[in-house]
Amino acid sequence: MSVGFPMRRGPFTPPPEYARLRAEAPVSQVTMPDGKPAWLLTRYEDVKAVLGDRRFSTEPGKPGYPFISPARASLLINEEPAPLIRLDPPEHTRHRRMLTREFTLAQVRKMRPAIQRTVDELLGRLEEKGPPADFAEEFALALPTTVIAGILGVPYEDREYFQERAQAKLDLTAAPEVPVRAGEEMRAYLDELITEKMRDPDAHDDLIGRLVTQQVQPGHLSREQALATIELLLMGGHETTANMIALGTLSLLLNPAQRDELVADPGLVPGAVEEMLRFHTIVHYNGPRVALEDVEVGGQLIRAGEGVLAMVTAANRDPEQFPDPDAFDIHREARHHLAFSFGVHQCLGQQLARAELEIVFSTLFQRLPALRLAVPERELNFNFDAFVYGIKSLPLTWTSRRPE
Ligand code: HEM
Repeated sequence: MSVGFPMRRGPFTPPPEYARLRAEAPVSQVTMPDGKPAWLLTRYEDVKAVLGDRRFSTEPGKPGYPFISPARASLLINEEPAPLIRLDPPEHTRHRRMLTREFTLAQVRKMRPAIQRTVDELLGRLEEKGPPADFAEEFALALPTTVIAGILGVPYEDREYFQERAQAKLDLTAAPEVPVRAGEEMRAYLDELITEKMRDPDAHDDLIGRLVTQQVQPGHLSREQALATIELLLMGGHETTANMIALGTLSLLLNPAQRDELVADPGLVPGAVEEMLRFHTIVHYNGPRVALEDVEVGGQLIRAGEGVLAMVTAANRDPEQFPDPDAFDIHREARHHLAFSFGVHQCLGQQLARAELEIVFSTLFQRLPALRLAVPERELNFNFDAFVYGIKSLPLTWTSRRPE
């Protein structure tokens, strides 16, 4: 029997159907909003197997690819050229290789002091302005936006323009033309930036400058494909990490004993960050794929051309892997979570995201120990309808240490 594709309804839990299906039929048929069938996977092992198997494609143009919503379908089908996240090998490999050395662990280590400075500056500004503040906007979004804009060489002053368009592209409920238009505007904006960089290539020691001089100008990469890559990095680099910072902060505010432990022992921070990534799994609808050949998954034959939803959100709450999975517990072993996906598309920016989160959560509560919600928890507004999950605003207050 086929059920409708389950959508999220609770702020900290995936759709309740996942747990039921995992127990009853871990590979089950669902009906997508466009009426087409797809296989929904809810067990960690099956999700990981599909994400790591090249017989499953991530290209939305392939017949059978499952679309989460009409807005998403319209965006993915019209995006030309497709960014590398939606290309299969060997094309994918060629494009990803142009970027890997920019985001290695060693490279990110060199960025840490600058990230720490930005965190300190932003917190300094919050303190100076005094409570209350919308922490989501003034800190959680500001930090990763500053970091990725700096890496790429995108002017931070233009943030409203690209943040708004990124959000429009990720809105699952928008009218179908909205994400398409937002994408076109984003690429037109970045195209102008490329023109500027090309005028004086040596003046720009940033990722866009390097991509232009080392890949576009010698003819390894078309200008259009470079735009697709830069747009992916700009979007992937701010919207995701911003939501993780806000939700991670909220989790610690709602679990003060764990927050106190973190403050007392900063050595716990890396493990706590992995738990935040697992628990919130913000790319909560990640996992649409389509089978290129007949493949058996979890005892079920999936035929070539059939859509599959390898749901990382479900995998990260599988009790076989994570005992008592709905509990937030910074002491658990969470490192094997799939919040950054798995296989060839595993997040390219994961070391950068980890560095930002680790620096935030080693600094925030040390600096503002009395940070707390400025509104009752029930008044918080979560972004259920976005491809990347998050919170719309996070009003926080604290006791000012400044003399009155
Ligand atoms: C891919 C999550 C931060 C750049 C992905 C995927 C996920 C993800 C789930 C894989 C999608 C798939 O399987 O189809 C996250 C989360 C982040 C984060 C949870 C923050 C907490 C970043 C940052 C960057 C970035 C900071 C900036 C460099 C990318 C890119 C890809 C990607 C370029 C495509 C990789 C490929 O297709 O080969 N991310 N991401 N991400 N992410 Fe991230």
